[in-house]
Amino acid sequence: MFTKRYFDKTADGQSVFLFENSNSNGIKVQILSYGGTVVSLQVPDRQGKIRDVVLGYDTLKSYENQDKYLGALVGRCANRIGGSCFSISGKRYLLSSNENKNHLHGGMTGFDKKIWADQIEGENLILSYLSPHGEEGYPGTLTTKVTYSLSEQNELCITYEAVSDLDTVVSLTNHCYFNLNGHDSGKIEGHFLKINGDQITPVNREMISLGTSLPVADSPFDFREFHPIGERIHDTHEQLRIGGGYDHNYILNGQGMRLAAELMGDESKIKMLVYTDMDGMQLYTGNFLKGAPAGKNGAVYQNRDAVCLETQFLPNAVNCPDFPSPILRAGENYHRQTIYRFETIE
Ligand code: GAL
Repeated sequence: MFTKRYFDKTADGQSVFLFENSNSNGIKVQILSYGGTVVSLQVPDRQGKIRDVVLGYDTLKSYENQDKYLGALVGRCANRIGGSCFSISGKRYLLSSNENKNHLHGGMTGFDKKIWADQIEGENLILSYLSPHGEEGYPGTLTTKVTYSLSEQNELCITYEAVSDLDTVVSLTNHCYFNLNGHDSGKIEGHFLKINGDQITPVNREMISLGTSLPVADSPFDFREFHPIGERIHDTHEQLRIGGGYDHNYILNGQGMRLAAELMGDESKIKMLVYTDMDGMQLYTGNFLKGAPAGKNGAVYQNRDAVCLETQFLPNAVNCPDFPSPILRAGENYHRQTIYRFETIE
């Protein structure tokens, strides 16, 4: 059962709460009502030692003063929308630009910086946010509900629901930075990763997807079998140079709820399995992590100290006719799910 306690006040005086739940296998999760942020996720390793496998901060001030989306919910639309605009049924909408002339992760003040209303129902923490019509340029009043639950099967399950009164764009994700050896244990280049995706969506120099796909075969993007993340990260592949490492979306094979990725901590022997019903997953190797405020217990996070596996619609899909549409029609129910399951290996 989730418990709730007061955490702190935002700079503009709003109260923020911390929610905590644990299971009988020793997994414990802490989530803030600020950004629906996963602050810590403690998981026992192969030896039974507890490791906090997500990066985070001790203070609300640090969360407010950073732009790395640590552990946060991201919306209305994860990833970049080129030129900060899109059209629905011939009507053009201009979004806020927060990365040069492009729109990233929902804009200037995305869902990661909102205070979410909370409701605890047994093992479920239900967070809600009402995004007004026109917020960051998006059409429609969007009622958003995100449910976090932690199961006895060692699954952290995130269910995303939304409904809008006008046609709009929705692609919600969570931006946990994982380090399965522990948040303060340095680079993730030794982590083993496997991704169920035959193709990525390449990006231009501004990191905007142009609606094309690139087979991963014979390239450093091929994670169809386990590879250490760092094995090919310094390859001269043009896409790796553009991203400063991996910062690319995989088109996940198959449809419906399925295994998207497996990540293994080389020291902890903790394995995380990611299941989702989303089309894509961004692999981001923390290439711009440096410069974030000091982390939990004073940890100083450097580039590549964590990896994000962000399930989402394909990037810039609203402007890419060949990609499945991320448009949520008025009155339609958005319902998507991602599960992070933890195990240990020999
Ligand atoms: C990732 C994105 C990166 C970077 C990061 C936040 O999701 O792919 O390019 O913007 O968020 O620092």
